[in-house]
Amino acid sequence: MAAAAAASSTSSSQPFLYLLLRSLLLLVAARLSSASLKLPLHHTLTLSPTYPQRPATVVSPVVSGASAGTGQYFVTLHLGSPPQPLHLVVDTGSDLIWARCSSSSNSSSSSPVDPLRPFHPLLSSSFCPLHCYDPLCRLVPRVPHFPCHRHTRIHSACRYNYTYGDGSFSSGIFASDITTVNTTRNGLAKLPLLHFGCAFHSSGPSVSGPAFHGAQGVLGLGRGPISFSTQLHRRFGNKFSYCLMDFTLSPPPTSFLIIGNHPSKNSTMAFTKLIANPALPTFYYVNVTSVSVDGVKLHIDPSVWALDETGSGGTVVDSGTTLTLIIEPAYSAILAAMRRRLELPEASPSGQVPFDLCVNVTGVRRPRLPRLRFGMEGEGWMRRKATFSPPARNYFIDTEEGVKCLGIQPVGDGGGAFSVIGNVMQQGYLWEFDNDRSRLGFTRRGCAVSP
Ligand SMILES: *[C@@H]1O[C@H](CO)[C@@H](O)[C@H](O)[C@H]1NC(C)=O
Ligand SMILES: *[C@@H]1O[C@H](CO)[C@@H](O)[C@H](O)[C@H]1NC(C)=O
Ligand SMILES: *[C@@H]1O[C@H](CO)[C@@H](O)[C@H](O)[C@H]1NC(C)=O
Ligand SMILES: *[C@@H]1O[C@H](CO)[C@@H](O)[C@H](O)[C@H]1NC(C)=O
Ligand SMILES: *[C@@H]1O[C@H](CO)[C@@H](O)[C@H](O)[C@H]1NC(C)=O
Ligand SMILES: *[C@@H]1O[C@H](CO)[C@@H](O)[C@H](O)[C@H]1NC(C)=O
Repeated sequence: MAAAAAASSTSSSQPFLYLLLRSLLLLVAARLSSASLKLPLHHTLTLSPTYPQRPATVVSPVVSGASAGTGQYFVTLHLGSPPQPLHLVVDTGSDLIWARCSSSSNSSSSSPVDPLRPFHPLLSSSFCPLHCYDPLCRLVPRVPHFPCHRHTRIHSACRYNYTYGDGSFSSGIFASDITTVNTTRNGLAKLPLLHFGCAFHSSGPSVSGPAFHGAQGVLGLGRGPISFSTQLHRRFGNKFSYCLMDFTLSPPPTSFLIIGNHPSKNSTMAFTKLIANPALPTFYYVNVTSVSVDGVKLHIDPSVWALDETGSGGTVVDSGTTLTLIIEPAYSAILAAMRRRLELPEASPSGQVPFDLCVNVTGVRRPRLPRLRFGMEGEGWMRRKATFSPPARNYFIDTEEGVKCLGIQPVGDGGGAFSVIGNVMQQGYLWEFDNDRSRLGFTRRGCAVSP
């Protein structure tokens, strides 16, 4: 999910582009689900404190959005005293943690075991709204013109309105409460003062409807000060990792979101530098330097991938976006190369599948699909290039029986546009977002193992 530029920067051309980008994506997500694409996932939230003498791993079961056909991945967060479970979208493309809130004090007005029960602040003894004068209130986009009085307690809560790229928004009260996390070694642990949005209004395609089905909110994991990972960094280090499991596997395997050091990570990880974009500080940018198809490097001017002085361009790694978006003319170059290398008949799929290239694999036992490889700038003193060579199922998507389509979308090269490596492309890899060392690690080994 792309946090709106409006929430973090002042660039004028971007909100419109974001809007375009997000609506495009959501359209795709919606169409894909009607084309029976299912994107299941089991996620587990894991936290491991930095104190070496008391290492603990927090594991909480995560329910997938598979049955709803959504392209999102979910994690369960327990908020309040006593803890209320909340299913949240895992989103590296935004910062705010928020959940739908109910102002009801009637615990039986909805079933306590209903997985989509909103958060009930009145049923949490530790819930605490921030005052509008609280310095932390400046970290969230405020509701404009809302009166803020230093001494009155009434109408003085910190009111936020967080907008996503397509105009979707979540608005309510910025508050704090206790989070309970499940540690494998020490049992349940309480983390005081997690700041989050208690949303009384949320609307728009990003935060409702099919794309959001099965979620009560969003767990923002971006690089900004209010994200989950940033808020927990004092205790666990500003680093997290996750695996997004193959959505075609059934039953969907369990994978993990880990905040802090991965306890059983292998040393096979490739690392690429994370680039900061002051215009859009939420996003994790990587520096793509080349793309090859079947080992042949495509002729794409390096400036196509570059993040320019105005903060346009570049490539973002986003768990909240389903498909991968590639900026023009790189997209056309990849499409042409794929078409050249494919030895399968092209197919015109039934229905409105928004893809440029589909092949008919009916009766072909092991269809040979071209290999796509991204070269990224290396990291560390050796500066070895980091090569990302995803398996074909990460970019050739089954849209119907016997039809596979290149699941990448083009984005125009106009001002403000950028490329996005979406969650389908990320599947089957362990990704480590290391803000402390400003690098992104990835490996195909490590998804099958519990931390
Ligand atoms: C913690 O984990 C245990 C075992 O997996 C599970 O039974 C329990 O429901 C979890 N509790 C929370 C709060 O996640
Ligand atoms: C609480 O909600 C239940 C179910 O909607 C309702 O039957 C009951 O009257 C409510 N109680 C109060 C005190 O509002
Ligand atoms: C929040 O922002 C959205 C769009 O930016 C707007 O439609 C909505 O009315 C705003 N809500 C509040 C409470 O200000
Ligand atoms: C990206 O990598 C290229 C090639 O190594 C380098 O010239 C360029 O400066 C890098 N861009 C950024 C923003 O670091
Ligand atoms: C795929 O090819 C088979 C014959 O080999 C044909 O019957 C089928 O209609 C084709 N499907 C599409 C979507 O083109
Ligand atoms: C690390 O690699 C070893 C050997 O390949 C494997 O047995 C182990 O499960 C791996 N651990 C993780 C976390 O992937």
